Amino acid sequence: METDRIIIFDTTLRDGEQSPGATLNTSEKIEIARQLARLGVDVIEAGFPASSPGDLDAVRRVARSVQGPVICGLARCVRSDIDAAWEAVQDAERKRIHVFIATSDIHMQHKLRMSREQVLNATRTMVAHARSLCEDVEFSPEDGGRSDPEFLYQVLGEAIAAGATTLNIPDTVGYVTPDEFYELIKGIKEHTPGIEKAIISVHCHNDLGMAVANSLAGVRAGARQVECTINGLGERAGNAALEELAMALHTRQSYYGLTTGLALQELYPSSRMVSNFTGLTVQANKAIVGANAFAHEAGIHQDGILKNRLTYEIMDAQMVGVPESRLVLGKHSGRHAFADRLLELGYHLEHDQLDRTFTRFKDLADKKKVVTDRDLEALVSDEVFQPVEVYRLEQIQVSCGDHAIATATVRLRAPDGSLITDAAHGTGPVDAVYKAINRLIGVPNELTEFSINAVTEGIDAVGEVTIRIEAGGNGDETLPLNPQTGKRTYVFSGHGASTDIIVASARAYMSALNKLLATRSTTAQAQA
Ligand code: KIV
Ligand code: ZN
Repeated sequence: METDRIIIFDTTLRDGEQSPGATLNTSEKIEIARQLARLGVDVIEAGFPASSPGDLDAVRRVARSVQGPVICGLARCVRSDIDAAWEAVQDAERKRIHVFIATSDIHMQHKLRMSREQVLNATRTMVAHARSLCEDVEFSPEDGGRSDPEFLYQVLGEAIAAGATTLNIPDTVGYVTPDEFYELIKGIKEHTPGIEKAIISVHCHNDLGMAVANSLAGVRAGARQVECTINGLGERAGNAALEELAMALHTRQSYYGLTTGLALQELYPSSRMVSNFTGLTVQANKAIVGANAFAHEAGIHQDGILKNRLTYEIMDAQMVGVPESRLVLGKHSGRHAFADRLLELGYHLEHDQLDRTFTRFKDLADKKKVVTDRDLEALVSDEVFQPVEVYRLEQIQVSCGDHAIATATVRLRAPDGSLITDAAHGTGPVDAVYKAINRLIGVPNELTEFSINAVTEGIDAVGEVTIRIEAGGNGDETLPLNPQTGKRTYVFSGHGASTDIIVASARAYMSALNKLLATRSTTAQAQA
């Protein structure tokens, strides 16, 4: 079953969410899934429903609210997992169950403690069970990259006979090289019984930095589905980056001769949204979506670009949706112009979100002479891409200096609507603000990362702060068991933006703390 159209299977919400600290709440998952639909992906793997009731609920809500792409749920070769995946995806307009079991000797012996015969049996019966529920069934032999090819042909043949329609070959540990992966996929195509009835898919991890190259080698060998994530998020070093695959297939169309259904101008907005929601910043030199991906620094390059862009540019930044950094709006701009510009930038805001962001924009326009697209992006991330506020930051006031003791007073709006105020001193203004917030909220946590970036040039630039905090552990039972680690420890990220970096830091801390508080409340509800 080989066509010239590549099926894009996005697993940002499943494998991507397995990145340490990338935990997303349900409304963030729905927002991302809607953005993925705008981007034109063919399949959204929305989660692993059997891993927790929260994941099942999130997949179900994505299935019910996102039209267009197939919505897929992951399941081990275990009946209850498959039933949970079906329960979660059954209301989707188009649905898929993705079943997996490990097939490498090392995984079968040490992890599953199953013989080859038992793995073949489980594949046969569980794929058949999934197929009895759902027309569209994908099967993955986990650690396929390190599995004995002869055994793989057998397992895959059983999966096809039992009704699998897509066969996904994962390089789970990112071990293989492009040449080896090409041979593996070619071998599967030549030797698997019934393979002409199924679509071959590839799923590559980036431990050796070869996930995209391996995926493209798989495609050259006949795979017609690629599994990938926005910004290359995923377990450990991540999965193949969707934006890189998309632009490789597009820019080198004459080499690959293949197409996708992607709306390329949605790549950059998707990257920004995922980065903001997960708190995982994109490195500046990241291909396609990094801040420097289209910046030319060397004089000789700039000269060439001015003479003819094609001398040094193989892609156009605007094609992937990078906004031109231009002066857009000023303090006299109206709500309409503001809303139009946000739409052009790929932000589809609800009415109340627009109201709040517009108020913040007016405030910013008073402080800054020129408001650029990058400022608007920072503002939307800060105001809209935030968790539900359990506590709201109302006011902060700081005094500091080289001969002063840094002191902060913070006022928050508590969940019951009352205003609470406290003060603290610290080693610097940010430390003092965080200590004052801790005194008010009283939730133990440790700050593990703090980074600050200027959004644009200039002394009046908006500062964007991204932080990570760790919570749980040491017998703290206020957090539920983390389905990804089996422990009670969690990493929460937060981000904030403001022309005042102390305010941006406070907003980032409140964003991470509100995620922590929301997770704690799920334990409280379960215990009630
Ligand atoms: O990397 C992997 O093997 C996976 C499977 C579940 C497909 O993510
Ligand atoms: Zn994976």
